Amino acid sequence: MRILAIETSCDDTAVAILEGVGGKVRLLADIISSQVKVHAPFGGVVPDLASRAHTENFLPCLKRALNKSSVGLKDIDLIAVTHGPGLIPSLLIGVNAAKALSYVLNKPIIGINHIEGHIIANWLELIGDKSKAVEGIIFPAACLVVSGGHTQLVLVKKIGDYQIIGETRDDAAGEAFDKVAKLLNLGYPGGPIISQRAQVGNAQAISLPRPMFKTKDYDFSFSGLKTAVLYEVKNHRCQLGNDIYINDLCASFQQAVVDVLVEKTIRAAKAYEVRTIMLSGGVAANDLLRITLGKKSEENNFYFSAPAKNFCTDNGAMIALAAYYRQKETASWQEIKADANLKL
Ligand code: KG4
Ligand code: ZN
Repeated sequence: MRILAIETSCDDTAVAILEGVGGKVRLLADIISSQVKVHAPFGGVVPDLASRAHTENFLPCLKRALNKSSVGLKDIDLIAVTHGPGLIPSLLIGVNAAKALSYVLNKPIIGINHIEGHIIANWLELIGDKSKAVEGIIFPAACLVVSGGHTQLVLVKKIGDYQIIGETRDDAAGEAFDKVAKLLNLGYPGGPIISQRAQVGNAQAISLPRPMFKTKDYDFSFSGLKTAVLYEVKNHRCQLGNDIYINDLCASFQQAVVDVLVEKTIRAAKAYEVRTIMLSGGVAANDLLRITLGKKSEENNFYFSAPAKNFCTDNGAMIALAAYYRQKETASWQEIKADANLKL
């Protein structure tokens, strides 16, 4: 079974080819074309520009994936595509490309939920003989999905059986990193830059709120924290050229985000009596979050899993693997539709 997977839900054009034979999975190609340069001047993703860039980048990515894997289009058995959630102008490019391929090649197609893809990224460790890490994942599991568009706590009863037990009421965690970086003029995307600056900053230097830290639910809110950073900056305009101040602010902000994410995840894991805690989405590449959640999970006897950092941010491999697990649920190309608000 060879799967061609297409992911264009936000600002990365991704094409992957995965081969699965008798439970053995091999990633034959994993091509990603980033649009960071396109969106950086705006401090965030501009949907129309993203759509245009996907249109330009898709065929070169497909060509590279086919070359890299030495697989011809005729050797593909299944087309997989992210059909939501995401930005509609972006989703439409991948979905229409996938439908056209399915029609022309007369191959089945499957629509994959982007959030499920992020969760499934935890099983990508299967590739490259690291199956020990995957064997440790015992259900039920709690997965903290933290990306630029989403922040959700998902109860994973098994692959394909999900229940959202908490989510953000306003900004996503990654969005908060991006907005704070924008107001500090640090560039885009904000997460990697802020975490880099935070490494040399003092996380106790600036007092910032931990929104919804104590609420009994498993929801999050990050817009108040972003506003607190805005007021902090307004009150210390003269410090904006001071690297030490900026590093301390980045470290204090990152610590506030991580404190809330970890506290709520551990509490939910205990309440739902899960065996495993999983992390996924772009913000899962954050070292402080990985280390802190990993440590707290261990202290509380939960097995901890996080994808390799390159599989935390958007990629086609996670969509291909999700399709491999769901290969019986194919559709005809007429049935596949892009849905910006697709539910898990
Ligand atoms: O999953 P992803 O690639 O795209 C969406 O589905 O949204 O996540 C992108 C987000 C961006 O907001 C980016 O700032 C954040 O992930 N991110 C990070 C780090 N690397 C990427 N946030 C914090 N620390 C990082 N190291
Ligand atoms: Zn994503």
